Amino acid sequence: MNLWTTLTDSITHYTGLSPTAFFTISAMMFVTYKIVCGMFVAAGDYMEVKKANEYTIREPVQLGDRVTEQELSAYNGIDPNKPLLMAIKGQIYDVSRSRMFYGPGGPYASFAGKDASRALALMSFDPKDLTGNIEGLSDSELETLQDWEYKFMEKYVKVGKLVSPTPSTEEAGGGENADKIVENVQAE
Ligand code: HEM
Repeated sequence: MNLWTTLTDSITHYTGLSPTAFFTISAMMFVTYKIVCGMFVAAGDYMEVKKANEYTIREPVQLGDRVTEQELSAYNGIDPNKPLLMAIKGQIYDVSRSRMFYGPGGPYASFAGKDASRALALMSFDPKDLTGNIEGLSDSELETLQDWEYKFMEKYVKVGKLVSPTPSTEEAGGGENADKIVENVQAE
């Protein structure tokens, strides 16, 4: 107890702060330090990170235009030997180069291996919006989705097309493929 009193007295004496203020400021400095450290990677670790990224990034593989949702779901980043894929309006893109966004643990990992059109249009992370069904969206939501599509077209390679699960995700007539079962989509 004596030691504690000496410590708090010394803190007040040397810093002019109350012990509570002193410990609060120390904690905030520690948190700030941790955040700043997290922004940098040690030189040794850098090579490891680089190596880890290298083995997943490769030439995009074309899957054809009759990929099913189930087939697409295998490309959700869990298997590091498969590319990371994501679809917008039924168009499938290879997003492997953005593993930090869509890979396991990434902020947008739930979009990987799926058509995330509705979630992107609504800017939603709700699992029920993880679908290519864009029925009932407003003009501005469709515009948001369009902006995402342009971004993806510009940034990623298109590797295939989903067999449309709902008529609204695909251009007119897309729905006619809805019940077709694709048996042989070239996977790798
Ligand atoms: C607090 C809100 C949010 C913040 C601060 C935020 C921040 C960011 C940042 C900094 C990037 C990286 C941009 C780049 O380097 O190109 C990004 C990318 C992205 N964001 Fe968000 N975001 C937020 C909400 C959302 C929401 C609600 C969605 C959709 C549901 C979303 C979807 C995406 C996607 C798909 C990407 C990756 C785009 C790509 O592949 O280049 N974000 N976000």
